[in-house]
Amino acid sequence: MNSPTTASAALEVHGLTRTYGEGAGAATALGGVDLAFVPGTFTAVMGPSGSGKSTFLSCAAGLERPTGGRVLVDGHDITDWAENDRTRLRRERIGFVFQGFHLMPYLTAEQNVALPLRLAGHRPDRARVAALLERVGLADRARHLPGALSGGQQQRVAIARALVTEPAVILADEPTGALDSTTARGVLALLRESVDALQQTVVMVTHDPVAAAYADTVVFLVDGRVAGRMDRPTADAVAGQLTHLSDLVAGGVS
Ligand SMILES: Nc1ncnc2c1ncn2[C@@H]1O[C@H](COP(=O)(O)OP(=O)(O)OP(=O)(O)O)[C@@H](O)[C@H]1O
Ligand SMILES: [Mg+2]
Repeated sequence: MNSPTTASAALEVHGLTRTYGEGAGAATALGGVDLAFVPGTFTAVMGPSGSGKSTFLSCAAGLERPTGGRVLVDGHDITDWAENDRTRLRRERIGFVFQGFHLMPYLTAEQNVALPLRLAGHRPDRARVAALLERVGLADRARHLPGALSGGQQQRVAIARALVTEPAVILADEPTGALDSTTARGVLALLRESVDALQQTVVMVTHDPVAAAYADTVVFLVDGRVAGRMDRPTADAVAGQLTHLSDLVAGGVS
């Protein structure tokens, strides 16, 4: 097991690459990404469609094996861990909000939120599940199946599910993509609070400069590489940077 290079990082990746397919048809989703996320930080990951954002989150969570490079969680190099071990680590340390929500269709909203607690062998804390559903504005939808919820409501169930175990690291793929601006603000405030009050580490993919402004830092991905970063982002500054992403690549930092 390698020793961590950033001693305090909750999550770090080194030289992360991911290629799909082989030969002439091969596509490089990640072309060598180095990033470290320390506890109590909120990072937004932005970039054009197809720039590798979801692939990055999926490799960082150990859901997908990178083609090359290393992934370290709490300083442990999990890259070569067996599937079972990565699954256990994920249950204990990582909350994941999928771009497509991935709710269990035959479980109610509250059962979906409680699922990570059950999988980790804990007795589901009904009060905590109810409080989280209330916090995302779904107190009156707790007994509904996902099929009876709108896209935005399903997304909020997925967010509550990712937070229920108070994981050290929360990886969220466009968690406000299906939400109206008022509901999105509530979710972003909840993520911000997780960072500030509980020292959780949040990495959030977003296309929205207003959402990115809730983060401490924005990382810009272009063609599977880190093309730039911005500390203390404002919505205006992020929007401006997005229109000039190709310039960032030309003068790239990686
Ligand atoms: N399973 C796969 N097989 C082949 N190519 C893939 C696969 N998954 C992703 N890719 C390719 O890898 C690249 C990065 O995809 P990824 O989903 O990470 O992009 P993204 O930045 O999340 O885009 P979006 O903003 O549209 O969600 C794309 O070119 C995509 O077509
Ligand atoms: Mg994506």
